[in-house]
Amino acid sequence: MNERRHGFLVPVAKPENLAMAQGGAPFSFYDLKPDTGSFLHEVVAGLSQPQKALSPKYFYDERGCALFEAICELPEYYPTRTEMAMMRAHGHEMARRLGHDCALIEYGSGSGRKTRELIARLKPAVYVPIDIAAAQLKVFAGEMAARFPAVHIVAVCADYSRALELPEIARFDAHRRIVYFPGSTIGNFTVAEARQFLRQACRLARAGGAMLVGVDLKKDERILHAAYNDAQGVTAAFNLNLLTRINRELGANFDLAAFRHHAFYNDGAGRIEMHLVSLKDQQVTLGGRDIRFRADETIHTENSYKYSVAEFQELARSAGFDPEHCWVDSQRLFAIHHLVAPAATTLA
Ligand code: AVI
Repeated sequence: MNERRHGFLVPVAKPENLAMAQGGAPFSFYDLKPDTGSFLHEVVAGLSQPQKALSPKYFYDERGCALFEAICELPEYYPTRTEMAMMRAHGHEMARRLGHDCALIEYGSGSGRKTRELIARLKPAVYVPIDIAAAQLKVFAGEMAARFPAVHIVAVCADYSRALELPEIARFDAHRRIVYFPGSTIGNFTVAEARQFLRQACRLARAGGAMLVGVDLKKDERILHAAYNDAQGVTAAFNLNLLTRINRELGANFDLAAFRHHAFYNDGAGRIEMHLVSLKDQQVTLGGRDIRFRADETIHTENSYKYSVAEFQELARSAGFDPEHCWVDSQRLFAIHHLVAPAATTLA
């Protein structure tokens, strides 16, 4: 059943009250039944374009998630440890600026390390992790409920890249909303998508609310190049795993030895691009179709945009936010922006 409110289609959901199996802390779980789309349809459409392309959202099957965790530990991949160190160094100041007793809403639940750091300082009244993967979200929410018994945990299974209103929970309305989006995942959207996404976040935060968002900075190309071309080949394995997943789940016959990982900084566009390069003329069968590749033809698998502080603040302004503060590490690798949703954006 759906209901229209504030111009959004709001799936009306009943919460499940869950607790970890043995003596675990309780939390609420809302399943808004996100539309996960058709993997086969999207892959065939992406590989039928003049520039073949696949969505980076398909990287994250079980092996892809494990490879991404390994990337985060690589010496060349600076974003994760830099952002984590910034959360430790500036967590108290962030909490003071954001204000305690808020409703903290997180887009994506990830491994939660940065979030645990933030919650310990911010002491929100409510924590709302939103994620598309129901099973992982339940486990994560249970762990957070056990770790932070004074915080109400309300997990929402939904696609956060689309407009959404939170399930009506009376206690939300008394608390200022803070939307948290760490990890520089916003860089994986195009600039137009990032603007649209920030607009939605601004509406969700409501007047007087705020957003805390991690953004990777523009920097020396050699540092960027190394971060996406690590010596151990973990990023290459992460990229190629997309073809393994398509073979397994869609019955395709990609020859993994006939493709190689290619990542480079596109200076004009301000982004790292990841591609899979065909090493020869070849044909792949997928969903009853033959897909031809010329030698050196590529599949574009990911963009990772890098923004200067001024560029991101301009983007945030164009989406309705007022940039309030920005933390940058001493090596100028990474930025964490505090954006405020002004009264003028209220939908009420
Ligand atoms: C998830 N995202 C922010 C990562 C990035 O850096 O764009 C994904 C990634 N791709 C290759 N390495 C890491």
